[in-house]
Amino acid sequence: MIEHIKTELNDGVLSITFARPDKKNALTDEMYGALADALETAETDPNTRVVLLLGEGDLFTAGNDLGGFAAAASGPLENLGKVERFFRALATSSRPIVAAVQGRAMGVGTTLLLHCDLILLAENALLSTPFVNLALVPEAASSLLLPARIGHVRAFEMFALGEAINARTAVAMGLANRVVPLERLHAEARNLAGHLSRQPAGALSATKKLMRDSEALTARLTIENAVFAMRLQSAEAREAFSAFAERRAPDFSALNN
Ligand code: COA
Repeated sequence: MIEHIKTELNDGVLSITFARPDKKNALTDEMYGALADALETAETDPNTRVVLLLGEGDLFTAGNDLGGFAAAASGPLENLGKVERFFRALATSSRPIVAAVQGRAMGVGTTLLLHCDLILLAENALLSTPFVNLALVPEAASSLLLPARIGHVRAFEMFALGEAINARTAVAMGLANRVVPLERLHAEARNLAGHLSRQPAGALSATKKLMRDSEALTARLTIENAVFAMRLQSAEAREAFSAFAERRAPDFSALNN
């Protein structure tokens, strides 16, 4: 366990918590490595029957650490290995995954939800995928999963404009199961995960396997990763990351790639 990812196994439920609230739970390379380790271990541990994803503090996660993106934009891309391991572990997990989202779930915070099986949103949840705003492209197989889940035009709007959708709209679109009051979010998610952990595990994982085409997902991850890596080193992306660091709006007007 590393400092910013907390894990705890209780009665068959492995809770994995994003715990970097001072940086809005932005995910670093080290955190992706710990997340991948936790999911890979869960896969072979017979005592882990359900995985529960939580975020500490006022929001679920602000997505990828933008400092990490900026470093990848100007240096070697070796760090993408841990992100990729995490995405693969998510896409191929046989354990049911429950997620509880309060506040913002940005970028990977929303795309990872597409791999979850039961999703509870607090009333203040806001889901967004502002990859294009950062001059990037969708990841985590979301270029396949989001249009399949909500239809092309709504998915394109989320990707291309990066605007957040609120909890009730997300449920109406089929992105989450239900909205619960913020103060009950984690308790209800734990109850639900506990309920799942008492269901027959073999039948649950066989059901999940029938519903998820992990071969198509991993094939899409390979394609997305190649495009994402190219985009990370684009002039547009460098401008987007500098703008975030300098707390100003980006200016893409003189750039076209
Ligand atoms: N990567 C790295 N650091 C981040 C971060 C990210 N994705 N999101 C927030 N932080 C850091 C901020 O730099 C700030 O650090 P500081 O206190 O050292 O200056 C701290 O977290 C608090 O963020 P702040 O912007 O002051 O909080 P806020 O409540 O005003 O806004 C957000 C919160 C999440 C709306 C805003 O931080 C944001 O838009 N972050 C970028 C999200 C993003 O684009 N993610 C990538 C998606 S693909």
